[in-house]
Amino acid sequence: MEAAIIDGIILSKQLREEISQRTAQITKKNGVRPGLAVIIVGEDPASQVYVRNKVKACEDVGFHSILERYPDTLQEEALLDRIKQLNHDDSMNGILVQLPLPKHIDAKRVLETIAPEKDVDGFHVANAGALMVGEPEFIPCTPYGCMKMLESIDFPVKGANAVVVGASNIVGKPMAMLLLKAGATVTVCNSKTRDLPSHTKNADILVVATGRPKMITGDMIKPGAVVIDVGINRLPDGKLCGDVDFESAKKVAHSITPVPGGVGPMTITMLLMNTLEAAEKMH
Ligand code: GUN
Repeated sequence: MEAAIIDGIILSKQLREEISQRTAQITKKNGVRPGLAVIIVGEDPASQVYVRNKVKACEDVGFHSILERYPDTLQEEALLDRIKQLNHDDSMNGILVQLPLPKHIDAKRVLETIAPEKDVDGFHVANAGALMVGEPEFIPCTPYGCMKMLESIDFPVKGANAVVVGASNIVGKPMAMLLLKAGATVTVCNSKTRDLPSHTKNADILVVATGRPKMITGDMIKPGAVVIDVGINRLPDGKLCGDVDFESAKKVAHSITPVPGGVGPMTITMLLMNTLEAAEKMH
């Protein structure tokens, strides 16, 4: 039997309806809408598309949002000053600085300048630390979305062997912490891992976030596993594909997220959720 598809578009739609309703309640009660400030520095075309999509999603659920674009000549101090202003601006519940930043700007310093209670990306060390000790405040949007996808299917996480391939601060590490908190036994693989298939074949839940197109094939997957594919890669023919080879994987998996239409739409949805939660905490 072929794997069931975990549809990120349908799940996103449901969650965004919930977000719209809770937004309307906040707006009615306080007379102000949840607000998100998005900052982009430089001209990276992919980043420009991402930030436009984020701002559009905010409008769709009834948030107030601003998009500030700066040239890549912007000095670090000027960016830090603007973030400090936004930290004190009560109309903005969330602040997001799109990555990557130009090389002359220290991204770590920028992320640490955002007030943790407005860090809707969940990248501040205070939020990373809170997740590490099992008391998450803001969860990074992509792993948060992956957990929502897991929750949406009838598959027990408690006691499962979960394998995360990729150990980035944005996806792999926070994903491992969330799975651990949910009661899974977690293995994190990285680019130095010896005999990767020996790990992936043992996974009841396999999360892949490497940025390497189709690197996980069906023969590396345990029959009946849940496969969450975080990758979004553009092939030479212009088509999008994940880090998992969907065609061979779907023949062995219990369920799988497609690319496109899987984790991608969930990431922006969870950004909206974090911004809403920031506003709810503030009011
Ligand atoms: N660049 C790629 N993904 C992200 C993200 O989730 N947040 C930010 N701020 N920048 C990104």
